[in-house]
Amino acid sequence: MTIRTKKYRDYEDYINHQKSKAPPGSDLHKRLLTDLWLSDCDGFRKNFSPYKSLFDGKTKALCLGARTGQEVYVLRDMGLEDAIGIDLHACPPLVQEGDVHQLSFEDESFDFIFSNIFDHVLYPEKFLSEVDRVLRPGGHCLLHLSVSNKGAPPQTGSTAVEPQSSIQELLSVSSRLVQELLGKFFAKHPDKDPWASTFVTSSKDVIHYFYSYGHYSVLKDEALEQENWPTYWTLLVKKAHS
Ligand SMILES: C[S@@+](CC[C@H](N)C(=O)[O-])C[C@H]1O[C@@H](n2cnc3c(N)ncnc32)[C@H](O)[C@@H]1O
Repeated sequence: MTIRTKKYRDYEDYINHQKSKAPPGSDLHKRLLTDLWLSDCDGFRKNFSPYKSLFDGKTKALCLGARTGQEVYVLRDMGLEDAIGIDLHACPPLVQEGDVHQLSFEDESFDFIFSNIFDHVLYPEKFLSEVDRVLRPGGHCLLHLSVSNKGAPPQTGSTAVEPQSSIQELLSVSSRLVQELLGKFFAKHPDKDPWASTFVTSSKDVIHYFYSYGHYSVLKDEALEQENWPTYWTLLVKKAHS
């Protein structure tokens, strides 16, 4: 009972909420493409550098929820020259418009998949099944997960999506505005992030899904240890060769 998802009026409400975070033309979007660009790229370069050997001889990478594309830019620079990102808003040439719950790519078409937006998805199972569909056998998926018990001992046992009662649902929707205001003050805690739609207690919640496919091994499951993203966890999995 560890992955919780926020309730929205409907799917459009969820999409509109996510799209409103940094739309093209907004101050944040402009800053991401200017004064924040280099430092963000440096962060991704540092994060990806331990995996450089995985990229040898590979070209095709997909970044899910890539916004303005810093992670795509860095992966291209590190040799994955056909890397592409998707996000709800396109940001050409690095990021195409798309929804992570329904990818427009062929089955088994990517060598490497990266995402740091697991907490922004609405349907974790659908998100992971799309990752599994488009990742080629032998490929790797790297997730940076925002987890709420970072530093606590890993959990064991089975996990499931927690059902919400209609009262919880009502409270959840009606309190969103308040959460958004409070989020300014608690942005570093995943449970208080107004943009989070899925709440993960530990990476074990996500590993459980990968194991359910029967063809994944976990290569890395440890804290990200990066100042900018204090709540993040690294999960690297490999899809078996068929
Ligand atoms: C916290 S930002 C991360 C952006 C980027 N990965 C980075 O680290 O700079 C989350 C992004 O996820 C995107 N997003 C949220 N839900 C999505 C969905 N269903 N499909 C695609 N992108 C989504 C948002 O539009 C937003 O750009």
